[in-house]
Amino acid sequence: MLIWLITLGFIGVSCDTIQRPDYDDSPDPEFLNPSWMSSIPDAQLLSKVTMPGSHNTMALYGGIYAECQSWSLASQLRAGIRFLDIRVRHMTGNLTIHHGVSYQRAHFGHVLEGVAEFLQEYPNETVLMRIREEYSETYNIYGAVVDYIHRYARWDLLWHSRLVPTMGEARGKLIIMQDFPGPDLGMRYGSMDIADHWKVPTMLHVEEKWQNVYKHLEAAPAGNKAQIFLTYSSGAGVFAFPRAVSQRINARLYDYLKAKTDLNQRLGIICMDFPAAPIIKMIIDFQLK
Ligand SMILES: *[C@@H]1O[C@H](CO)[C@@H](O)[C@H](O)[C@H]1NC(C)=O
Ligand SMILES: *[C@@H]1O[C@H](CO)[C@@H](O)[C@H](O)[C@H]1NC(C)=O
Repeated sequence: MLIWLITLGFIGVSCDTIQRPDYDDSPDPEFLNPSWMSSIPDAQLLSKVTMPGSHNTMALYGGIYAECQSWSLASQLRAGIRFLDIRVRHMTGNLTIHHGVSYQRAHFGHVLEGVAEFLQEYPNETVLMRIREEYSETYNIYGAVVDYIHRYARWDLLWHSRLVPTMGEARGKLIIMQDFPGPDLGMRYGSMDIADHWKVPTMLHVEEKWQNVYKHLEAAPAGNKAQIFLTYSSGAGVFAFPRAVSQRINARLYDYLKAKTDLNQRLGIICMDFPAAPIIKMIIDFQLK
């Protein structure tokens, strides 16, 4: 039984990289879409915009259990990703990037510099960033986050409100979706309507995972338009690595999106592991007129 489950977890996981329309674990996107937000009207509330995100954005290293992405932050942003999921380990004021135990060869300053550089080059865009503490338990990262913003970005790069901005207000801004205690730095992560069914113990649980994604996406068009909808298509477990899960789930997501003929609906943020350029483009094409 155990061997069988482990084998299932490895299915589709080879040493070669794979570039499909729904799933891509190669080093670079097939094509870029760096300024797609230019065509969103200024008056549109950001909660009404459908956009692609990356789960565990910086998790590029650490082996098959830890890796969730294969593109650099710069490539993700240029491919069209607009929601980032950033996990920082806090050590006496220093914030390093971690996925669990795995150090991701970067610190929070690299992330801020990457976003600031992107927004300078593409000032019509906006970037949403979930920040949470990972692999340390200080529950006190606020001061360090503020310090890094001053050192590696600038204070007025941020959207300084709990309220959902319009597209016009959000352009050129980094919107922190604060998933840690302390005074307001931006919006609160918990203010969103979130589906994050991330525990997929074995490949036999992939269907259950997909049902969670499906139900939340089906609810998104009719949901409260003043609230941001966030759906994670990512998941993993001891016998189901992120690569194996996303090869299955991304395929389901791709078919689901492709079957929709009405693109004039709000799906919210769809946050993925190993997304490919074509599925990113598909998500971007859903916009309210
Ligand atoms: C930003 O949007 C304006 C208005 O739509 C457009 O003229 C301009 O080319 C855009 N800039 C970039 C860098 O895409
Ligand atoms: C924090 O980071 C700085 C700069 O990278 C480094 O010089 C310093 O030693 C680090 N402090 C700790 C406690 O790791």
